[in-house]
Amino acid sequence: MKEYGLYIDGKWVKSTSGRTFETKNPATGETLAVFSEGNREDTARAIDAAERAFPKWKKRPPPGRAEILLKASVILRERKQELAETVTKEMGKVIAEGKGDVQEGIDFFEYISGEGRRMFGETTTSELQNKFCMTVRQPIGIVGCIAPWNFPMAIPCWKLGAILMAGNTAVFKPATLTPLCLAKLVEVFEAAGLPPGVLNVVSGPAEAVGAEILENPKVKVISFTGSVETGKEIYTRAAKQLKHVGLELGGKNPLIVMDDANLDLAVDGALFAAFGTAGQRCTATSRLIIHEKVYSATMEKLLARTKALKLGNPLDPKTDVGPVASEQQEKNILNYIKIGVEEGAKLTCGGKKLTGGEYDKGFFIQPTIFEAKHGMRITKEEIFGPVLSVMKAKDYDEAVFIANDVEYGLSSSIYTRNVNLAFRAVEDLQSGITYINAPTIGAEVHLPFGGVKHTGNGAREAGTSAIEEFTEIKTVYIDYSDKLQKAQIDTHG
Ligand code: UN1
Repeated sequence: MKEYGLYIDGKWVKSTSGRTFETKNPATGETLAVFSEGNREDTARAIDAAERAFPKWKKRPPPGRAEILLKASVILRERKQELAETVTKEMGKVIAEGKGDVQEGIDFFEYISGEGRRMFGETTTSELQNKFCMTVRQPIGIVGCIAPWNFPMAIPCWKLGAILMAGNTAVFKPATLTPLCLAKLVEVFEAAGLPPGVLNVVSGPAEAVGAEILENPKVKVISFTGSVETGKEIYTRAAKQLKHVGLELGGKNPLIVMDDANLDLAVDGALFAAFGTAGQRCTATSRLIIHEKVYSATMEKLLARTKALKLGNPLDPKTDVGPVASEQQEKNILNYIKIGVEEGAKLTCGGKKLTGGEYDKGFFIQPTIFEAKHGMRITKEEIFGPVLSVMKAKDYDEAVFIANDVEYGLSSSIYTRNVNLAFRAVEDLQSGITYINAPTIGAEVHLPFGGVKHTGNGAREAGTSAIEEFTEIKTVYIDYSDKLQKAQIDTHG
């Protein structure tokens, strides 16, 4: 059994407590690797290493930083199959999606390395003679990352690509369910030539590793992806030290089907976005809002397609839906299914944990569909599993009202052939991302990613905004007049 330590200052080291934990395959129960469990002291050491590495990394010209990221993208591509299998084995998404997870990392590293020669500022004139004004972007320092398990390659790559490109150093706490994926990403960075101390990884419980990242004053930025509840706690605690905080939180993403929609296309989209990754995406479609005129026709197609989905080992390319990521996940999801039944939603499909034979070793939940009434808990709270709530709307306005009447606002989608309605929806739907005639998942890396309302705090990852979260703007005035010039006074008297 392979054993991994903590990655501090370019070396794998044991935790000071000597404690370890295991990472397991949620489809088979097999143990994949053993990891050192970090505590506060270990995390403080990692932060010190990041602090020592910062001055030199910051001084390295951006094209030099970009070279390492580009090389990392090449290595990720070479190791894509193996890394995808690690993703699939460690968190249970089907292998095609495991490959997608790695591909998102490759794409982002390629994209962001372009910033090496593009970290533009602004230049402008001055109100005074012989004076010039401009802005430059500067790295902030040590960034603490706290990451989820559902995209164990893509999300760390989004975060680290931008953090390192911008000239910061990092201390990374991977999700305790997926430390192996991050250990492999560390290998990729090492092979690409990342200097020691620039990236440090400490696995361990939130109360220890997370707490040190939040409270150690040397950490200047926190980048967190996870639940709204934890996000709020992080925001509050980090505020005490005025740390910069980027939050990517939950979703309760609606997909609206209008009466003029291509129903087959809409059902295809809903199926993929609701049950792909067993619904464990923050962008997953968890609410389907159907115009009453096409309600029965859409439901008929949807049920037939859902019942045909094949659950099983996610490494088998014929499997459509894999297990959920852990026993805890299974418990939460089954509990929500119980809540749905108790509050009177009609369970039209699925709803059970699969048992018998190979299923007994893993956490398999049937793709589940409820015909629900807006306002029920299952239509408002994030379930993060293969559970879709379907609701009927009498017209566009009611559909948009239902879509918006939740605390989340990550992704949304509408299927219609009416161009006017499509543009109105872009304006009306309260979400950071809106899709027209495409499902709520599938964000591309060269565009900003993030949500409104309780889905975040306004920060956006990826895309043209990726660098913003991890840099400060410095405004520079250069006076070459050789005399004291007074802004506002000399110009306006
Ligand atoms: C997430 O679910 O946490 O748009 C991120 C998507 C993916 C990213 C999702 N590219 O579904």
